[in-house]
Amino acid sequence: MSFDRSLKIAPSILSADFANFGAECEAIEAQGADWVHVDVMDGHFVPNITFGPTTCAAIRPHIKGVMDVHLMIAPVDPYIEAFAQAGADFITAHVEAGPHIHRTLQAIRGAGAKAGVALNPGTPASAVAELMDMVDLVCVMTVNPGFGGQKFIDMTAKVAELRAMIGDRDVHIEIDGGVTPDTAPLVRNAGADVLVAGSAVFKGGSVSNPAPYGDNIRAIRNACA
Ligand code: DX5
Ligand code: ZN
Repeated sequence: MSFDRSLKIAPSILSADFANFGAECEAIEAQGADWVHVDVMDGHFVPNITFGPTTCAAIRPHIKGVMDVHLMIAPVDPYIEAFAQAGADFITAHVEAGPHIHRTLQAIRGAGAKAGVALNPGTPASAVAELMDMVDLVCVMTVNPGFGGQKFIDMTAKVAELRAMIGDRDVHIEIDGGVTPDTAPLVRNAGADVLVAGSAVFKGGSVSNPAPYGDNIRAIRNACA
């Protein structure tokens, strides 16, 4: 996987048909998705529950490209090996999920995955300043995590601050929450390269009618061009 800052759209399967993840992943990739974003929630760190490493392993063979696993769980460390074994390319943990994010990031890289750190809207960029040489991705939450379809919270200034902090390191900036053709250009212009979008990609489409997925992905991409 070579590094670049080109725009990447990462549909979140939180908005997909939960009874049909394999076909949904294949459909969004066929319709132009760059990465597939997989939201893991534990009902403890966030007020919602999705699925765990077994489901990630089941989905993996249906994804040709990057599988981007966003862990909204606490604790994180006991489960890192299982998500790496499931075939996650990126494993992202929240800086708020425990007292030892540095150890968590070491463990993610040690398990052979790329390491991401996510920041809730209430967490300042400075919270990850000491971690820049330990991460491959910084995820800026633009909603409070837990649910799809929420309203975008403007974190443009934080994105710009992180972009400066990253400098010439090979670290992606990912935006997660409320991304639409209206909000995407704000964060893209501030320095983000990976845009997660759940409801804005899946709306109007289905596995049997996947063309709207492509229209929705192109609408976000074109808005940033
Ligand atoms: C929020 C998740 C996001 C979210 C994105 O807790 O981490 O990935 O589902 O969904 P939309 O794009 O609908 O805000
Ligand atoms: Zn997410």
